Formats: sequence, C-alpha cells, structure tokens
Amino acid sequence: MRKKIEELVEYLFTSHGVDLSGFDISFIEKSVARRMESQNHSSYSDYVTFLKDNQSEVTPLVDSMHIAYSEFFRNPLTFSSLEMLLLPHLWAKKRNEKSSELRIWSAACASGQEAYSIAILLDELKQKSNHKFSYRIFGTDNNPAELAKAEKGMFTPEALNNLSMRRIDTYFTRSRDSYFISPLLKNQVDFSYFDLLTDERACPTPSIFGNFDLVFCSNLLFYYKTEAQIQILEKIANTLAPGGYLVTGETERELLKKNNFQEVYAYAAIFQKNFIN
Ligand SMILES: C[S@@+](CC[C@H](N)C(=O)[O-])C[C@H]1O[C@@H](n2cnc3c(N)ncnc32)[C@H](O)[C@@H]1O
Repeated sequence: MRKKIEELVEYLFTSHGVDLSGFDISFIEKSVARRMESQNHSSYSDYVTFLKDNQSEVTPLVDSMHIAYSEFFRNPLTFSSLEMLLLPHLWAKKRNEKSSELRIWSAACASGQEAYSIAILLDELKQKSNHKFSYRIFGTDNNPAELAKAEKGMFTPEALNNLSMRRIDTYFTRSRDSYFISPLLKNQVDFSYFDLLTDERACPTPSIFGNFDLVFCSNLLFYYKTEAQIQILEKIANTLAPGGYLVTGETERELLKKNNFQEVYAYAAIFQKNFIN
C-alpha cells in the first residue's frame, strides 16, 4: 500500500501541483480511505481511477487532510499543569528577571481555541496577582480560513463545552446563538499566517524576534513524516527563549526526547529544550 500511496502523492504533485510529500504515509492512507467510503468506492484502484477522471475530487481529498479540529482546554491534564504549575512559575520568573512581558506562541492555532484558552488562564493569574503583568500571545496557522475564524472569535455553544459557567460569563458575550470572545482577551492575541514547513521567516512577523517563553505545537506533528517533524521542531526550538517550554501532544513524547527536549511534567506533554550541547 505504501508504494501506491507514494504514486498517488507523485501524481497529485505532477498533475495538480499539490505537495503532500511531508505528510505521514499512514495519515494519507487513512484520509484516502475516508474519501473512498464517502464516495462509495470499495477498492483503492477504483477510487484512484475515479479521482483521475474527476478533477473535482482533488480538492475535497486534499482538504480532508487539513484537519483543523480544536477545542478550548483540549488536553485537560496539560492545561491544569499550566494553570497550577507552569504559568505561575513563568510569571514569578519574569517578575524576578524584571522582564516586561510573557511571550507565547500557539504555532498551529486553527480557529483560536488554544490561544484563547491560554489567554483565559493568564488573565485569571493577572487578576490574582498584586504585581503589574503583561503578556502577548501569537497565534499562527497555514490555513487562512481558520485564521479568519480565530480573528472573529465567534464560537457555537457546543464549542464552549469544556468551559465553566464562570469563565463563559467572564470572557464571552452572547449574541443570539453565538458566543464572542471578550475584547479584553482578543487584544492580547495576534493572529497571523505562518507555515511551519515552508516559511523562510524564523518566527511570526507580529512577534518580531520570537524569544517565546512558551510554544504550543499540539495535534499537528503526527500528521507529518519524521523529517518534516524534525524540521518543525528545529524551527520552534530556535524561537524559544532560554529555559522556554514547548507543549505538544502525548504521541510526540519519544520524538521530542530524541531531539534534545526533556519532559518537564511526566504526566503532561510539556517539554524544555536541553541547552547543554
Ligand atoms: C488539528 S489542528 C490543531 C489545533 C490546535 N493546536 C489544537 O491542538 O487544538 C492542526 C492545525 O495545524 C495546522 N497546520 C497543519 N500544517 C501546518 C503547517 N505546516 N504550518 C502551520 N500550521 C499547520 C492546520 O491548518 C490546523 O489548523
């Protein structure tokens, strides 16, 4: 099957200029299987013939690989570690260093839930603190449609399922059947386009120089082949401030350890770069 998928990748590139070469083969295979089922094809070769005869099938197939699902406070263990341990620690560290702001990058932010979740935690921390505190969050993605949603900050009631009533009342306003993120949080987040694989810039333009205390790269790396994963990790590692942290997903634990990151909290996917070598 691997060979057949590689041939399909080659065909899509040469005939349609669509480059799927960075994606993990089994991820492409699963995406093709889903399209086959939805188009009622029982054999792979039938589906490929159909695809070649029906150019309009290329877009939905490729779109099905750009999965942009996200949730507020998506990984509860990671977010509670951030709330209880890491953010208070970073905040105290910044204060001791007399540094002006905490800088955070949500590096594949989809429609903004991750960036806004972290903004909620930081605002709560700020409310509890007696000290002046400033933070900036940069949300980037390579899908302009998702970025437009993130900018708008409009969510369905179902999208708020992981939030307490108190957080909904404090950080959202309701208009008919939609909830809008409060300007207080929106003003703390800059959304912009950034492709982690192809962008020649070292970090998102609005952040100017990177130097992030915390980077999120969650639910993205496992779509890609090892070479592409390493390329993304290297890019992110170069933007981290000394002692900065990286949040990924559970499945990337081994990859990170092999690439010079150490686990900080064993039960959550939070890592720190080893700066020893
Ligand atoms: C499944 S969503 C994850 C969203 C969020 N990080 C979370 O964990 O809920 C994956 C996101 O990665 C984005 N993405 C995929 N490849 C990318 C790339 N090369 N550069 C930037 N964003 C990418 C997709 O557009 C999508 O919005």
